[in-house]
Amino acid sequence: MDLDTRFPAVSDLRARARRRIPHFVFEYLDSATGREDQHGRNQSALSDIQFWPAILEGEPTADLSTSFLGRDYPLPFGCAPVGMSGIMWPGAEKLLAAACSKAGVPYCMSTVATVVPETLAPHIGDQGWFQLYMPKDKEIRLDMCRRAKAAGFHSLILTVDVPLESRRERQRRANLTIPPKVNAAMVWSMMTHPEWTLGTLREGIPSLKFCEDYAKDMEATSVAHAGHVIRGNPSWDDIAWMREHWDGPLLVKGVQKPEDAKTLVGLGVDAIWVSNHSGRQFDGGPASITCLPDIRAAVPETPIVFDSGVTGGLDILRALALGADFVMMGRAFHYAVGALGAKGPGHLIHILEQDMRSCMGQIGATKLSDLRERLVR
Ligand SMILES: Cc1cc2nc3c(=O)[nH]c(=O)nc-3n(C[C@H](O)[C@H](O)[C@H](O)COP(=O)(O)O)c2cc1C
Repeated sequence: MDLDTRFPAVSDLRARARRRIPHFVFEYLDSATGREDQHGRNQSALSDIQFWPAILEGEPTADLSTSFLGRDYPLPFGCAPVGMSGIMWPGAEKLLAAACSKAGVPYCMSTVATVVPETLAPHIGDQGWFQLYMPKDKEIRLDMCRRAKAAGFHSLILTVDVPLESRRERQRRANLTIPPKVNAAMVWSMMTHPEWTLGTLREGIPSLKFCEDYAKDMEATSVAHAGHVIRGNPSWDDIAWMREHWDGPLLVKGVQKPEDAKTLVGLGVDAIWVSNHSGRQFDGGPASITCLPDIRAAVPETPIVFDSGVTGGLDILRALALGADFVMMGRAFHYAVGALGAKGPGHLIHILEQDMRSCMGQIGATKLSDLRERLVR
């Protein structure tokens, strides 16, 4: 199968993933919260950013390499943390980690992954970032970070935009309750997706394995409860505390306001991750990309990661032009693994890279730092 012909864009991967994975799983991956207005705004605000095409500038060749927090990367993007990743396709975390490692781009493991960090150690190479939903129990925090670091995850991401659960109405309509209750519709959906179902049975029923290691002795033992039991409601003091206790790169994810970015930098955070969780938490906020320029201006020397709504190489260029140093994607990587299994993430990286090269050629940009001056203002 010629992947480039059959699946030239993220939308093709999404369409195939939708057919290959059970409905309730696809809805978990694809949905946002409320009317999903913010999700739409994330994408349309990106689409509104334009570049001037260039003419008569000779043969265009683009250098897509970059350095970020002291490491060199051939490409300026990677895979964002996604909880329950392994439910999207059997072994998804391992497949994604291996593909990112092979391409030399970061893979960020979620606290609520279906694997423990040690399982990913043989696959992750030097590309491991670890995302922490800070547990209230400080001993658990430290132990999770210790295990992640020992398994090769060198950068710590603190996600701070989930003060509590959001409604996620589309997930509810798909019968995805917390804790999950298997019902007739789910069973039917699994029966009609045998490749997913048999693979999932072979791989082992997905659960929040890392959290369960710590929730074991607690009252709530069900899959979803393990995440709830572990997760705390961190405050600014917790950021300062984590800074004291983590000696590697520390990033804070879910920042939307310039003054918050400034305060975080004052607390010793190494990089700001601009994100609105892709509209999964709050439907009434601004598009993530519209937050980026003011944050760039507020913390001019601080590295910035951007996510939410990126669906192609051109969107990556847009975020870089507006001040991001690195771009991460959640859904796209999971559409890819859902659509094509082990071949998916590598193919996604290929189409993003080709799209970036092609678009940079059109606008006469030979390096990422050229992008800003090519913007239509
Ligand atoms: C199914 C799903 C689960 C997610 N789980 C987490 C998570 O466990 N931790 C986290 O920090 N962000 C999580 N996110 C948010 C992503 O890290 C990222 O911010 C978002 O997906 C980026 O937007 P995009 O999907 O449009 O690329 C999740 C996103 C999705 C779609």
